[in-house]
Amino acid sequence: MFIGLDLGTSGVRALLVDGEGVVVASADHGLQVSHPHSGWSEQNPTDWVEASHQALQDLSAQVPAEMALVRGIGLSGQMHGATLLGGDGAVLRPCILWNDTRSHAQAAKLDAKADVRALSGNIVFPGFTAPKLMWVAEREPEVFAQVATVLLPKDYLSFWLTGRATSDMSDSAGTSWLDVGARQWSDRLLEASKMRRDQMPDVIEGTEVVGVIRPELAQDLGLPADVQIVAGGGDNAAAACGVGALREGDGFVSLGTSGVLLAARDGFHPDPGSAVHTFCHAVPDRWYQMGVMLAATDSLNWLAGITGESPADLTAELSDLRAPSKVRFLPYLSGERTPHNDSSVRGAFTGLDIATDRAELTQAVLEGVSFGLRDSLEALRGTGAELPSLLAIGGGTGSRYWVELLATVLGLPLQLPAQGEFGAALGAARLAICGVTGADPLQVMTKPDIAETIDPNPQQTAAFDEAYAAFNSSFPALKAMP
Ligand code: XUL
Repeated sequence: MFIGLDLGTSGVRALLVDGEGVVVASADHGLQVSHPHSGWSEQNPTDWVEASHQALQDLSAQVPAEMALVRGIGLSGQMHGATLLGGDGAVLRPCILWNDTRSHAQAAKLDAKADVRALSGNIVFPGFTAPKLMWVAEREPEVFAQVATVLLPKDYLSFWLTGRATSDMSDSAGTSWLDVGARQWSDRLLEASKMRRDQMPDVIEGTEVVGVIRPELAQDLGLPADVQIVAGGGDNAAAACGVGALREGDGFVSLGTSGVLLAARDGFHPDPGSAVHTFCHAVPDRWYQMGVMLAATDSLNWLAGITGESPADLTAELSDLRAPSKVRFLPYLSGERTPHNDSSVRGAFTGLDIATDRAELTQAVLEGVSFGLRDSLEALRGTGAELPSLLAIGGGTGSRYWVELLATVLGLPLQLPAQGEFGAALGAARLAICGVTGADPLQVMTKPDIAETIDPNPQQTAAFDEAYAAFNSSFPALKAMP
């Protein structure tokens, strides 16, 4: 038996699987985010430990016999958060999370330095870890002076489980301190944000063992004394392991709160200028690239809140795929990462008519988000990624209309997986299997069964290509607005 422990932003998921990766049991525990100031987003690492402890205890209560057979625990989690530890291993301040934008000025400063993009393979986004430490150095110098180790969120859990400070390549790639091509900390990048190598945890592959669980925790949770903790990966890398996206040509599009379009890569092909993220994969010698849009289902949820309808009721008003709407929605409710790297831009509706009704607004929102994902697809193509089709995952895929629209806008068949588990927690459990047994990741990380493939609608492809071009040309006008 193996466990995948996924530390999300809104909760922890513990998934127990057998040696074949088949799900046996799961437990979830929620987490709150605090926003003490505009643009700030923090969590207390002790809450992660409590929620994880609770989720593992739930598993022990549900399936005690199987828990006594666990051989490994793999981790996955929200990326980029800065968990600051003092010399005694105590947490110095709340973790500054991935969606916290307070360090945008520091990010811009670091991004402008020579070599930084080339070595890290990425723009320094305000959500990444290095600019957060620059902010702490400027605004909380007494805290900064005490920083002995910086850990990413899931790595704080492996520190809690084993007492050893490590990180894996896929998560470390989102710090702006890793030479992402060479898969090692870069002295040049560390020095650029005034950090030292001794403040970095040991960086290992996601399939490597961190250590054995602390004896008192094993006893408390009803786990064997020799359970091994496996490094695991950042949430998107782990999700890619969960759907078997490892090889060139494999990829997925996720319609979640934020939208992600991810391609697995055999090599390191950065293109920071297009705001594509280029990170190490959680398995050795592989990388992945992704475009991230900040408000995907969040845009529909926003319209649902305004209209007082549920997102499902809104999309139910649309049946057969319509021609592109004259109403255009620019989906930048929280700014945008790919392709604009712009945290200050905000969204818009244009082309509103006296006859525009609610269904047309929904249509425009779904189209705007789909065009935003097409931007990510074009950016990935610019790096040489070839994607013949994509798996479609995430809450938004519950709308058949949206999936057909997205397939048409992207010009790619979208595969809908059959019901089941294929998220980051499964990826983490699969990384644990590889780490403990030495199994080949390509054998373990299989693709889910496909329930249905939705093809682009040939009658509408040309019209949506034209509408996408018009969407693209709206951005400069939006930016020019006072
Ligand atoms: C990736 C990113 C998010 C977080 C939270 O760059 O910021 O996917 O990992 O899920």
